[in-house]
Amino acid sequence: MIISAPSDYRAAAKKTLPPFLFHYIDGGSYDEHTLRRNVDDLADVALKQRVLNNMTGLDLSTELFGEKLNLPIALSPVGLTGMYARRGEVQAAKAAENKGIPFTMSTVSVCPIEEVAPEIQRPMWFQLYVLKDRGFMKNVLERAKAAGVKTLIFTVDMPIPGARYRDMHSGMSGSFSSARRIFQAMRHPKWAFDVGVFGKPHDLGNVSAYRGEATNLEDYIGWLGNNFDPSISWKDLEWIREFWDGPMVIKGILDVEDAKDAVRFGADGIVVSNHGGRQLDGVLSSTKALPAIADAVKSDLKIFADSGIRSGLDVVRMLALGADCAMLGRSYIYALAAQGQAGVENLLDLYEQEMRVAMTLTGAKSIGDINQNSLMQSL
Ligand code: FNR
Repeated sequence: MIISAPSDYRAAAKKTLPPFLFHYIDGGSYDEHTLRRNVDDLADVALKQRVLNNMTGLDLSTELFGEKLNLPIALSPVGLTGMYARRGEVQAAKAAENKGIPFTMSTVSVCPIEEVAPEIQRPMWFQLYVLKDRGFMKNVLERAKAAGVKTLIFTVDMPIPGARYRDMHSGMSGSFSSARRIFQAMRHPKWAFDVGVFGKPHDLGNVSAYRGEATNLEDYIGWLGNNFDPSISWKDLEWIREFWDGPMVIKGILDVEDAKDAVRFGADGIVVSNHGGRQLDGVLSSTKALPAIADAVKSDLKIFADSGIRSGLDVVRMLALGADCAMLGRSYIYALAAQGQAGVENLLDLYEQEMRVAMTLTGAKSIGDINQNSLMQSL
């Protein structure tokens, strides 16, 4: 299959993956209304064309928390990444490093922290989900720190999983099937996830000790529902702060008051996100939520945005709406599933090319020049 545009990777991933995995990535929650709005609202944001401004010498780099990024893009945390490509987290982390951007490892990754970190020089970012055993979670964070992680992304929009009906239809979750298929996929020679560097079949690498000998990966989403801690609250930021001194970013903010609380509780950044339309269906798209949040807190912390970004143009749109950095979820996962590390690197090249055109034709020479003047109207 010929890949010309970032969007080509979705079809390529569909061809490559077993259907239940493709739909797990591709799907959202309930009626998938928010999932569609994420993509459509962003595509509707109209860029303002400006011409004849001598646009040589564009600079697409930026700096966040003292770290240089070649592009204002980070890879969002995505669970089970090692299922979509062999040692998927390692491949994605290497691609991100080669393109000069951060990779964020999910708590529920397949490859553990200790397998990925030694493969890259650039410190990865780590995403935290809080399981009910706080002592265990503290230990996970200590492992991340020991592996050189500095930036922590604390995801707060999944104290309980949203209903993913598509996963029930596909057999990914629900009483009908799930875990057996996951284990089969992990061991199936075609998907070849059988041997990690530690010489045993992959599990959820970071939390396998917590799960013990449990075979209840047979209901992955059910397991999340039983083991994620719904009691998390703003107070937990203080708990995390006791042993995490690096930048802390709260992921899953859609409301101005929550954004202000994030500032009040000492967060260094927020991710404006609805989890890619995978949690509460019916909530605002990130595109619609972002401008008011940026107005309220942009001077107080860094603003990241994800959910619906599918192109370099979309990155420019999110920055124009007030984000400091865009994050990619499905977009990079499709590329990883289709072509592994090389696919993610090519995808990021395509994003860069699109951004160059968009910046040239909106008159933005640097990332800092992208703002609401790059848009026909503020939303
Ligand atoms: C996710 N997302 C996610 N977020 C998180 O904080 N921890 C996680 O483990 C996961 N897992 C996960 C799995 C899959 C398959 C998807 C598609 C997404 C959400 C992710 O970080 C991000 O917020 C969304 O993917 C952004 O939306 P788009 O770009 O996919 O539309």
